[in-house]
Amino acid sequence: MKNTFNHLIDTASLSLTEIDELLRLALDIKKSPQTYVGACNGKIMATLFYEPSTRTMMSFQSAMLRLDGGVIGFDNPSGSSVTKGESLKDTAKVVSSYSDLLVIRAPWEGAAKAAALTADCPVINAGDGGHLHPTQTLTDLATLSAELGRLNNLTIGLCGDLKYGRTTHSLVKTLSKYKGNRFVLISDKNFTLPDYIKNHIAATDCTFTESDSLGDALPQLDVLYMTRTQRERLAVGENPTTFVLTPQLMSQGKKTLAVLHPLPRVDEISPLVDDDPRALYFKQANYGMYVRMSLIVTLLNITKSHPPVPLLNGKTYDGISCLNPKCVTNPAYNNVNLPRSFLRTGNTYECEYCSHPRAGRGD
Ligand code: CP
Repeated sequence: MKNTFNHLIDTASLSLTEIDELLRLALDIKKSPQTYVGACNGKIMATLFYEPSTRTMMSFQSAMLRLDGGVIGFDNPSGSSVTKGESLKDTAKVVSSYSDLLVIRAPWEGAAKAAALTADCPVINAGDGGHLHPTQTLTDLATLSAELGRLNNLTIGLCGDLKYGRTTHSLVKTLSKYKGNRFVLISDKNFTLPDYIKNHIAATDCTFTESDSLGDALPQLDVLYMTRTQRERLAVGENPTTFVLTPQLMSQGKKTLAVLHPLPRVDEISPLVDDDPRALYFKQANYGMYVRMSLIVTLLNITKSHPPVPLLNGKTYDGISCLNPKCVTNPAYNNVNLPRSFLRTGNTYECEYCSHPRAGRGD
């Protein structure tokens, strides 16, 4: 099979065959871990975490150690030369010369793509601000595939902070590649899914409805994906409603309902729900480690036999820059000389780093 990726920046840009193969391998590693011991002998993975993490960072580290590879990196940039003003580009360039794989989490939207432009090894997006979280999506898909048996013809409720929740953005984009999925977007009306992702669904044969009531939505769902409010990304004055899943609400759900949550949980799922067999979120976190083992093995093998796939397919337009202040291309973030790149549709220009659309100059 000819792969279409050298990095993992956005799961939705993979083909269904590529996704299915990553999931198949993850579930095989989970079933027969001894077969994969030694698979990354002599390889080094660097984890550059500019934002806090428990699951993503530790499951990546555990994944590499279980494959007999080594791990370097930082879990807090304050202990690195980032504090001296080193740019993401320069850090990625240098650390990629010490390692075979870079795993990056950063607050800037499009950060992993920016790093991949300069790195000399494969880059994995471990979360770029409020934009995307592709390895969480692979984790979610592995959980659904193994526990529910299918990824199509599902009614999927996504509940909580859909504006800033990067896990929901990646998951909706990716699940809308599968046929017949219906999304029920449950959120405070000021924290709805960004329009560019709704437009993405509209361009497929999947559908969505919006609701501000978890109780109303729940009985129809095959999957309920709960999320926390992303407090670290709220603007001053923003204070969304918290939806709380309780045993009483669970009693209205289907017997086959699958409840997922990327975690960390704050207060949006009562701990009294944890013992319900439909609550899959702790199993889900465990699937994440096998998904990351699969991804590490796949990316290290692809690179041996595969020419680089272009990361930017759009164009630079005179006078057009991204208007999203959280975009990695914002000059305030010191990522000098990042090439601007936009995909143009009519008079709309979509930034290829952070996906935010902007209107053109009217010409
Ligand atoms: N799900 C997730 O990304 O968790 P962490 O922030 O702990 O990595």
